[in-house]
Amino acid sequence: MTRTRFRDFHDDDLDGIIRLFEAAVPESEAAPPLYLLSEVLAACQRNQAVVAVRDEEIVGAAVGRAAHGQGVLVFFHVLEAIRADPEQGTRAEAGLLDALERRLMPLGLGKLSMLVPAGTSACDGLVANGFETRTGLKYVERHLPVQRRELDRLKAVGGRILPRHLWDGVSGMQEEKDMLEDRLVVPLAEPDLADHFGVVPPRAVMLFGPPGTGKTTFAKAVASRLDWPFVEVFPSRLSGEPGGVAAGLRTTFEQINELEHAVVFIDEVEEIASRRGGEPPSPTQGVTNELLKQVGQFRDREGRLLICATNFVRALDAAFLRHGRFDYVIPIGLPDATAREAIWSRYIPEHTINGVDLDVLVDASDGLTPADIEYAARRASQEALASSLRQQHVDIASRTDVLSTDDYLEALRATRATVSEETAREFGEDVETIARL
Ligand SMILES: Nc1ncnc2c1ncn2[C@@H]1O[C@H](COP(=O)(O)OP(=O)(O)OP(=O)(O)O)[C@@H](O)[C@H]1O
Ligand SMILES: [Mg+2]
Repeated sequence: MTRTRFRDFHDDDLDGIIRLFEAAVPESEAAPPLYLLSEVLAACQRNQAVVAVRDEEIVGAAVGRAAHGQGVLVFFHVLEAIRADPEQGTRAEAGLLDALERRLMPLGLGKLSMLVPAGTSACDGLVANGFETRTGLKYVERHLPVQRRELDRLKAVGGRILPRHLWDGVSGMQEEKDMLEDRLVVPLAEPDLADHFGVVPPRAVMLFGPPGTGKTTFAKAVASRLDWPFVEVFPSRLSGEPGGVAAGLRTTFEQINELEHAVVFIDEVEEIASRRGGEPPSPTQGVTNELLKQVGQFRDREGRLLICATNFVRALDAAFLRHGRFDYVIPIGLPDATAREAIWSRYIPEHTINGVDLDVLVDASDGLTPADIEYAARRASQEALASSLRQQHVDIASRTDVLSTDDYLEALRATRATVSEETAREFGEDVETIARL
């Protein structure tokens, strides 16, 4: 056998690294390799990599990267043919590790490690060369929802990743939450399970209800729950586009189509999708037509959900709500007593809540929206702070019951209900005649 040489990686070695990687994969069947080929190749080019060469052929490689005083091996493998020769094999492995270490050392590293499937030759090779096995550790990972490439596309359409746990932040509204969970979240998050039961995941839904009942909140919560980016489309902002709103919508949806996943939200959709007709045709007619077309096309692709919201569902063009465009037309109504209690509890400071009669507040806020309750609670807090500042010698630390039930009731008296009785009645009718669940 000819001698095995060790040298730095250079770009011509890429093919050899690919062959090595492919040779290494079957060995780690029980635990697939941690780093993908693309990551190993990237590390070869950007970080430290040494190769073992015999007869011009790459027979082994060690690839590492260094950060914050630690070196991590992302790939280590020597071909079986070399390892089979007892003398060559151990020499090749030791030589590679030695060469890599010498390149990493000047970077001031205190430690070199590798997460490696047990029972592979790489694992044995490392242990034979002075690496210690650490026990009691568990490898955990989480795939982040959006990759880098996707971030640029997302930025172009003004999309963003919402914080996790928004879903849990929606207080009460259990009926609505359950429905959204069953109809939207589960079929989209678990398409295989949905398929098993013959459920087709939804592509577009309409939320309707009086102002401030939580339509936007729910749309965001669904995105957060799915771990999908949230893209809000503002038709009014597209009027400056060449070709106007219709052309702007087309371009925006084209860009959105490039995204892997997305929850796309259009609020106050009645502004661009109200009933068509009339002579001469209203200027929004072309926009409505374009939106209808875009919803149709949007439905063709998986991994995305369009949520439209409106306060005036009865004003929408009939074609818009026809079957086949929106899978569900979902009412989001005023919060019931349980929801109101949950919403109050959310906005009343924790150390105060025991001193407040929640039942009284829940009763007194019947007919109010979550937004109204939020307003009343904040107003009460604001007033209490102001009055305590006006008092002299207030020892804040010793005060536990900063706010009383009366403070909240007073704030409630100053809060105008967003939803009039008339609107509430109309909403009830819409639930009967338009909702589709
Ligand atoms: N279930 C809820 N729990 C806690 N806060 C809520 C809840 N629903 C809504 N809110 C709060 O009420 C306010 C209004 O909610 P949101 O903007 O979602 O209502 P909306 O239905 O979209 O209103 P609009 O029709 O005016 O667009 C927000 O500040 C939101 O945080
Ligand atoms: Mg809204």
